[in-house]
Amino acid sequence: MLRTNKILYIILFALFITFSCFAIYNAVKAMHYSNNISSGNVIDKPQLHLVLISQEYDNPYWRLVQQGAREAAQQKGVELEYLGPARADVKEHIKILEMAIASKVDGIITQGLEETEFTPIINEAARLGIPIITVDSDAPRSKRVAYVGTDNYAAGYMAGRELVTQSGGRAEVAIITGSFTASNQKDRVKGLKDAVKNYPGIHILDVAESNISRIQSAASAYNLEQQYPEIDTFVGTSALDGLGIAQMLKEMGSGTLRKTIRIIAFDDLPETLTLINQRVIESTIVQQPFIMGRESVNLMLDYLKGEKIVTVLNTDAKVIHREDLTGTGD
Ligand code: BGC
Repeated sequence: MLRTNKILYIILFALFITFSCFAIYNAVKAMHYSNNISSGNVIDKPQLHLVLISQEYDNPYWRLVQQGAREAAQQKGVELEYLGPARADVKEHIKILEMAIASKVDGIITQGLEETEFTPIINEAARLGIPIITVDSDAPRSKRVAYVGTDNYAAGYMAGRELVTQSGGRAEVAIITGSFTASNQKDRVKGLKDAVKNYPGIHILDVAESNISRIQSAASAYNLEQQYPEIDTFVGTSALDGLGIAQMLKEMGSGTLRKTIRIIAFDDLPETLTLINQRVIESTIVQQPFIMGRESVNLMLDYLKGEKIVTVLNTDAKVIHREDLTGTGD
């Protein structure tokens, strides 16, 4: 009996100590809260959560966009989540977009890849109050709040002008494009065709797709080579296309043995620059993926603060050659 009483006292004492600690903790917390409110501080403000969805998760071009976005997010103290399909795939991309919308993130940065597929979902996000900024490729008729990226028609036109200069107006050309349906790729091909349309000596023999994959670009280039032995120029309109074309030519020995084939590429991934230095790729149209990522986050944060923002932020594109890398051309 005595022993039972003792145990009971111990339990009661332990409970008393626990409740006292809890009460003291809450009292201190309440004091802290009221002090912050009276001094005008906002406490426990949740961190803004932005999502960047890329066309392909591990694509080196998109890793640069991610780096730029991450830098801006870190500087401004917001959370940036990076997502994307393992392989470029519009259905997967849209699923990820739907998930981000369903989890009510504060803002989404993604491509406006295909107008018909992307516009309704972007508009749905807008209806639910989640702003979307398109990056790299636009959906101008959607309710996105802004576009950050290259003027893709102008960049394609630049590639076409480059082709005219290099070929002196005579070329048998095949184009490898990232996708037949992606708006940025369609605009580049259109720009390129428009730039050469007044040159009767330049023939665009065919256009094939790479699905932004280097291997598929090599396979498409191989098929085109077989079909049109007269090809003397390849143009690749997405970041890995030029690399795939170069790989195919190397494997076939065409670049050195049979004939010289000119390659005009897109973007300045390190391997592309190496191939320019080795004179395998003639020139490339350089975009600014890092800046696209950084500025889309900055714009999104301005928008979320209620500031008026530009609706189109064109990031520069320019052509570079071997001379631009070495400074001398040697
Ligand atoms: C394009 C991107 C594409 C990437 C693929 C870039 O040139 O702007 O849309 O995803 O190439 O590697």
